[in-house]
Amino acid sequence: MRTRQSIRRFTDQPVPRAVLERVLTAAADAPSGSNLQPWHVYVVSGDPLASLKKAVADRIAVGDSGDEREFAIYPPHLRPPYRERMAALGDVLYGSQGVARGDVAGRARIRARNWTCFGAGTALFCYLDRDMPAPRWADVGIYLQTVMLLLRAEGLHSCAQEAWAEFHRAVAEVTGPPPERLLFCGMSIGFADPAVMHPRVRHAPVSETVTFLD
Ligand SMILES: Cc1cc2nc3c(=O)[nH]c(=O)nc-3n(C[C@H](O)[C@H](O)[C@H](O)COP(=O)(O)O)c2cc1C
Repeated sequence: MRTRQSIRRFTDQPVPRAVLERVLTAAADAPSGSNLQPWHVYVVSGDPLASLKKAVADRIAVGDSGDEREFAIYPPHLRPPYRERMAALGDVLYGSQGVARGDVAGRARIRARNWTCFGAGTALFCYLDRDMPAPRWADVGIYLQTVMLLLRAEGLHSCAQEAWAEFHRAVAEVTGPPPERLLFCGMSIGFADPAVMHPRVRHAPVSETVTFLD
């Protein structure tokens, strides 16, 4: 848990299929309400991932801002303390690369690296059925965190990416999900590039998020 962080620069070293199968086999035992296990996962690498990255890059190059959104990822008005936490993340992600808060084009350029999987050669795309209510989305989150921790045990890193939902039609061209499935998020998987600094984002102290009543 202490070594997990979202990595946004990966080497091109391939991730062995056997390692991915080991991780996903163990993650299959993640808990879920009534054991529904509502996640549907596609692991994409090689030519299919290369063509997906190219398809999205080509669309971005002509000013395409993605497919129609299927769900809101934040409330319309982010209140404190969430607004401040998001701003602090922006300072880490963009500030570390010399891009100022008001530099819209610079931020978009860095953000577009999402759709290169930050250089990773493997991506996981996680779907769930459209009719699943909020608690089942939590199941999927628990599952994804299980995957991310198991990846650490194998020397791998990851970055969960809801940014992929913005190009869900492009992803569907590759994954071919049945219509009842909704893309929740992607996840880049690979080896962290040892040649660059991976800035850590500060998490709120326990006193901000936990109340002990005893
Ligand atoms: C469901 C989910 C979706 C996320 N989507 C993105 C994303 O699209 N792009 C990105 O760069 N990071 C994304 N992140 C990573 C978060 O920004 C990151 O977890 C948070 O800032 C805390 O940093 P840490 O993971 O390094 O501890 C996502 C994380 C989660 C859990």
